[in-house]
Amino acid sequence: MKILGIESSCDETAAAIVENGTRILSNEIASQVDIHARYGGIVPEVASRQHLLAIIPIIEKAMDKASTGWHEINAIAVTHGPGLAGSLLVGVSVVKSIAYAKKIPLVGVNHLEGHIYANWLTETHPVFPLLCLIVSGGHTDLIHMRRHGDYTLLGHTMDDAAGEAFDKAARILELGYPGGPAIDKAAQHGQPCLALPYSWMSGTHNFSFSGIKTALYRMVEKGKIDNINDAAASFQQAVVSILVSKTIAAASECGAKQILLSGGVAANSLLRRRFRQESPIPILVPPPILCTDNAAMIAACGYFRLQAGDKSTLDLDVIPSLQLV
Ligand code: KG4
Ligand code: ZN
Repeated sequence: MKILGIESSCDETAAAIVENGTRILSNEIASQVDIHARYGGIVPEVASRQHLLAIIPIIEKAMDKASTGWHEINAIAVTHGPGLAGSLLVGVSVVKSIAYAKKIPLVGVNHLEGHIYANWLTETHPVFPLLCLIVSGGHTDLIHMRRHGDYTLLGHTMDDAAGEAFDKAARILELGYPGGPAIDKAAQHGQPCLALPYSWMSGTHNFSFSGIKTALYRMVEKGKIDNINDAAASFQQAVVSILVSKTIAAASECGAKQILLSGGVAANSLLRRRFRQESPIPILVPPPILCTDNAAMIAACGYFRLQAGDKSTLDLDVIPSLQLV
């Protein structure tokens, strides 16, 4: 079964074709990063206009790369939330038009569930029950997954999402946008020697990252930082240490057979290394290109949603604050 996936929830316009929820035939991404970098963050109005320009060419590119004709597409999966309303609308409207004109079934996908399903696109397939850490620009969630579609939220961030904290810290250190990759790179040339406060949120599976970011801000304000690379390494170490140790603890407690990492921050090199070194439970993490926003994960998720009997109608609407659990 071939599924065309479409993703336009934030600042990447993406289209992909995935076979049987696991095999990528094409995975195309038109990034707007350079445009938003000028403003130091995503400008929603600019994002939706760019999606409008990029969406048809990116779909055509994905179809070409997969050497697939419309008659071979069995269904279209599209992100309908959470995300920026104007951005989501572009993907959903285009998909509804295609589905209507070509008489192809469609299914609306939750972007966060899509991030989880990036793990079905790797060679080692997930085994239930598992614990999933979703770490993106908008979310930091620990989710216990017993089977397809069965989610329990064990913990979440009480303030900044991990990716948001990376982006804000990079802005404080004037490392540019997007902040996560910039901090990851700078940290490779520094030592984690600054004493930043770690908020463990003991006794819970929740997270808090805003205190670390504020402490970094105060240090910069007081002129206490003389090496930006050391500051980046210290910040990264603090966030990663909390993510790694709290995730492993939650996985042990709920009897997970595997830990799945997903979302943009799962592309972080220290996070990947530390999980592999420290976890007694097997770790699954997609390659970095499947951690950040892409449409292959949406197509994969769409496949499993269709298998479970879910199907959307042409009434499908965007839900900017859509929840997974
Ligand atoms: O999943 P994603 O592409 O979009 C959302 O759904 O939010 O995640 C984007 C987030 C951004 O905050 C970005 O700075 C962060 O992921 N990110 C990273 C890295 N690559 C992307 N954070 C830390 N290290 C990285 N290498
Ligand atoms: Zn995302």
